[in-house]
Amino acid sequence: MDLSKLTALTPPTITFKTYATENDLLPAIKLIECDLSEPYSIYTYRYFVHQWPELCILAHIKDECVGVVICKLDEHRRGYQDGYFSGDKAHLLRGYIGMVAVSKQYRKLGIGSALVARALKKMKQRGVDEVALEAETGNLGALKLYEGLGFIREKRLHRYYLGGTDAFRLKLWL
Ligand SMILES: CC(C)(COP(=O)(O)OP(=O)(O)OC[C@H]1O[C@@H](n2cnc3c(N)ncnc32)[C@H](O)[C@@H]1OP(=O)(O)O)[C@@H](O)C(=O)NCCC(=O)NCCS
Repeated sequence: MDLSKLTALTPPTITFKTYATENDLLPAIKLIECDLSEPYSIYTYRYFVHQWPELCILAHIKDECVGVVICKLDEHRRGYQDGYFSGDKAHLLRGYIGMVAVSKQYRKLGIGSALVARALKKMKQRGVDEVALEAETGNLGALKLYEGLGFIREKRLHRYYLGGTDAFRLKLWL
């Protein structure tokens, strides 16, 4: 029996943890920047992880960071739509998924979905009403991941990215 083949087929043991220190951030940034057309500054990452550390979740295989999701929460006045007041004053807690990335070597194993599902669970526990994010219209992996978790395409944002490509705003009502 070819043991090396069997090892390759054995699913790797993945552990999940929330952001604890800046040491967690550098490997996560490295993963995110592999595929990013527009790099974020370190301050953008710190804005997210310092305010909502429990919504930054990392996946590890042994000591290697193989996946990350970074999110935040915002309070909205539901009554205001495009600057006009519609009469309903209820407050809305909105979750926002800022970044998600999985190491190329470990994609299509469910790690991305598991990370996002964990973030959604934490948001739900905090009373979030809806979750939003943007994904490039051609990013089939991301669209499949989010739609598989129940997100729907709310609108198309023309020339949303610096390179001129469009995005879909995806939303999930919890
Ligand atoms: C998008 C990304 C996070 C997906 O991570 P992943 O761990 O491969 O996702 P999952 O394994 O949970 O896959 C979820 C579903 O999408 C499918 N999928 C994943 N990548 C795919 C691709 N490139 N094309 C088509 N389907 C894909 C999976 O087969 C799975 O489908 P299923 O539910 O029917 O089994 C990963 O491809 C990535 O890091 N991409 C670069 C960064 C990025 O684009 N981030 C999103 C920005 S909005």
